[in-house]
Parts: sequence; structure tokens; C-alpha cells
Amino acid sequence: MVQLSGIAITGCGSAVPNVALGNDGMSRLVDTSDEWISTRTGIRQRRLADAQGSLRQLASDAARQALEMAAVQATDVDLIILATSTPDDLFGTASQIQAELGATRAAAFDLTAACSGFVFGLVTAAQFIRTGTYRTIVLIGADVLSRWTDWSDRRTCVLFGDGAGAIVMQSTSERDGLLGFELRSDGNQNNCLTLAFQPQPHHLVDDIAIGQGSFQPIAMNGQEVYRFAVKKVPEVIEKALFRAHLSVEQIDWLLLHQANQRILDAVAQRLGIPDEKVISNMAQYGNTSAASIPLALDEVVRSGRVQPGDVIAAAGFGAGLTWGAAIFRWR
Ligand code: COA
Repeated sequence: MVQLSGIAITGCGSAVPNVALGNDGMSRLVDTSDEWISTRTGIRQRRLADAQGSLRQLASDAARQALEMAAVQATDVDLIILATSTPDDLFGTASQIQAELGATRAAAFDLTAACSGFVFGLVTAAQFIRTGTYRTIVLIGADVLSRWTDWSDRRTCVLFGDGAGAIVMQSTSERDGLLGFELRSDGNQNNCLTLAFQPQPHHLVDDIAIGQGSFQPIAMNGQEVYRFAVKKVPEVIEKALFRAHLSVEQIDWLLLHQANQRILDAVAQRLGIPDEKVISNMAQYGNTSAASIPLALDEVVRSGRVQPGDVIAAAGFGAGLTWGAAIFRWR
């Protein structure tokens, strides 16, 4: 009989590129200003991977730190899930990370759910642990969106940055650290935020033509995405809290995908969560997509703000459209 296990989040780590581009630098690139960017988004700078920088390297560095904090050997890892929309290889980058870490026993795969990827990955990983299939999982959220940003489009290029964050999830016979979750998707709104493949007909032989082409840079309807986020994110958090049998007051921290400070403020206000419980680091990094939640988690854990036993309400939202919330306990 399958033994149902609880989940413990036992380690975290993060990595960002060294190169920082501030808002003043951004205003030399497109018609914008530090004043516009910081008042409309809360972002002051973003980190950017250089031409030699790889997603694999950022993700592996974050994962190594998480393993070290959890005191877990790479050879004890059963599964690596890499949440990303910007792989080094479309066939998947998780296996390269598995090799880099020396996690010889681990299966590894990529998971794509854009800026919701970390939350979707957390819930996916939890299923393997709950069923008793795996005991130790490394979940990484990592993106290098700078590769796919339209650097001539001021409506989008000011928002994004590169980075990686990781956690270690382990089975436990003690109290379950994943208290509740809710995942949602709405493909009808897909065109609000895309990084789409654009095929051109390529004639092979006879009347056979296939589509070949490349991915087009990120395109976004910012106002639609904003409206979607401030409406749907509070709903999904409330649903996850309901599943966790918790009230909003019992949350110690609100950890949202770091897209826009105004979105964080609006969601917190709708839920009645005071500012001091809202984790925010987007001023330093911008929107790092699947990396933003574990990157922010790592900072608040290492600074001592988040303490073992604290209850965190995390929510991701973004392209797909996808959105989801997970209520979990740190350690
Ligand atoms: N610098 C200066 N002006 C800019 C600008 C920039 N970087 N980007 C847009 N503008 C201009 C627009 O052209 C527009 O000018 P106009 O009135 O002359 O046409 C004006 O600022 C207002 O644009 P608007 O799109 O209404 O701004 P906004 O207040 O909605 O803010 C976003 C734009 C993108 C910051 C905001 O919509 C947002 O954050 N949306 C969510 C995006 C997001 O989080 N995406 C990722 C989800 S994972």
C-alpha cells in the first residue's frame, strides 16, 4: 500500500547575474525615466545575464545553495523540476542541471507555466512526495527573460530581469508543510502575454510544407494583465486558504510573484494583509518570472525575517494565462 507522506521545505537558494541595469540606464535605451518606472512598477534595477551566461548555471548555483541549506547530498535527490520558460535547450535544461549537480539518481524535467511556474512546480513536486514515490525533490524556478525581451518596447522591457531560485522539498512523517493550494489556467486570455513561435511555410518535397521559424519577443497587454492579476490572485489565495482551513490573519507572509509593486499592494489591500507582511524585492530584480518567488523567499529566509514555522501564502500569475496559490510552512 502507498504510504502518504507530508512535505517539508528544508532549504532554499538563489542566484542572479552580476550585471545590473538601473532605470537611468534603461532611459538611455528607450523613451522612459526612473520616475515613470519606479512609480508605475516599483522597479529600480534588474540583473541581466551576459552572452556567456546560461540558465543552467544560474539554476545550478541556486540549487546547490538550497541543497547545502537542507544538508542534502546531490546523490540523494530523487527528482529535479525546473520551472522555466527560457530553457537553454527546448528539449529541456533540467537534465543539464542534474549533470552539473551530480544528482546521478535524479530524474529531471522542465515545467513551463511562465510566471506561475514555481507554484505549479511546487504543487507538482508535492504530488510525488505525498504518494510516497519520491522522498527528496529539488524545485528550481529560473528564467533569462532578457533573451526574449523586445528591447525597443518601453511598455515591456523595463519590467523584466534574470535570475534563479530553488528549494528542497522532502518527505516527512511529521506535520505536512503544504497546507493548501489552488491552480488555475485560462487559455482564452492567452494573447494578453505571449512569447510565441512564428512559423513560416517551408517547402520540403511534393506538396509537403512544414512550418519553421523562431520565437517572437515578449508581447503584452499590460492593462489586461494588471486587471487579471488584481482580480484573480486574491480569489485563488482565498481558495487555497479555505483548503488549508486558515484565515487571512493566520498568514505570516504574503509572497507574490514580483511583477509590479502596485499589484502586490492591491492584492494585499483586497485581502486585508498589512504592508509589513508583504515580501517585496522587485526594486532590485524586476520581474524574474518563475524565479521571482524562490528568489524573494531565499532573501527573507537568509536575512532572518522569515522564521521556521512561519506560514507563507505564495501566489504566481502570468502568461497562459495561469495563476495559482500555495500556502506552505517554512521548515
Ligand atoms: N516609460 C514611459 N512611459 C511609458 C512606459 C515607460 N516604460 N511604458 C508605457 N508608457 C506610457 C504609455 O505609452 C502610455 O502613454 P500614453 O498615455 O501617452 O499612451 C502611458 O505610459 C500609460 O500607459 P499604461 O499602459 O496605461 O500604463 P500603466 O499604468 O498600465 O502601467 C504597466 C503599465 C505595464 C506597468 C502595468 O500595466 C502593469 O504592470 N501591468 C501588468 C504587467 C505585468 O505584470 N506583466 C507580467 C505579468 S507576469
